[in-house]
Amino acid sequence: RTVYLNGEYLPEAEAKVSIFDRGFVMADGVYEVTSVLQGKLLDFPGHLQRLDRSLKALGMGNPLADDEWLAVHRKMVELNQIDEGIIYLQVTRGNPGDRDFAYPPETTPQTIVLFTQAKPGLSENPQAKTGLKVVSVEDLRWARRDIKTVQLLFPSMAKMEAKHRGADDAWLVEDGFVTEGTSNNTYIVKDGKIITRELSTDILHGITRGSLLRYAAEAQMQIEERPFTIEEAQQADEAFFTSASAFVLPVVEIDGAKVGGGTPGPVATRLRELYLEESL
Ligand code: PDD
Repeated sequence: RTVYLNGEYLPEAEAKVSIFDRGFVMADGVYEVTSVLQGKLLDFPGHLQRLDRSLKALGMGNPLADDEWLAVHRKMVELNQIDEGIIYLQVTRGNPGDRDFAYPPETTPQTIVLFTQAKPGLSENPQAKTGLKVVSVEDLRWARRDIKTVQLLFPSMAKMEAKHRGADDAWLVEDGFVTEGTSNNTYIVKDGKIITRELSTDILHGITRGSLLRYAAEAQMQIEERPFTIEEAQQADEAFFTSASAFVLPVVEIDGAKVGGGTPGPVATRLRELYLEESL
């Protein structure tokens, strides 16, 4: 693979980052994942806006202009011949020379990394037809989940707990309500209405979520933004989640209880089609 590091396109084995990098010792960095279908970047302006927002929230500048980010992403698609897959981008506060809790001076060069992961068949994911199983796990992440930081240990722990319990993913629960999945936004459908938690610092402001809700509203579908419980989700007609790498995927079992008879429902199926049609 060819990767990008601080302005250079390199074979992955030649891309080296300091052990003192704040991303490595402090998880002091932010990231974005953009999906690629038919060689095209999906929802790219949204990902750039959120990158800027995450950087600002952590007091970091944006090292590249939007047109430069676009050019780098396009070059990575081309160099790695990505037809279907994802592009990962990460910006950290760089290498201050020593480990220190205080931020280094703003003149410290940030570390910018991009790499691609080819995912042939991404758009034809068989899980869209079978659906996924999730289990609930208490949400023990920090309170600024709206910032897309590389601090992903708790979501990894929750994902492993889900796997050990025979499920595909965890739905995180705080004060009795679902916040989101380990790496996706969550929804239920009741009597034709799409219900999803409103935006706040409690969840990541999913780019796929934003686009999907816009397409759904344009298609005259009903949307209600409010929190829901695991019990409500188990009794819903349908459940599903969204993310850049999953688009829209149905959930057919929650904590062992089948949702909507245990097969993907018409709303999630329609929304997946709608998202793929509209965002391409
Ligand atoms: N994760 N919530 C969380 C906690 C996430 O990590 C993600 C994305 C989402 C969905 O956001 P978007 O629609 O912008 O991808 C929601 C990415 C895909 C990841 O970490 O791989």
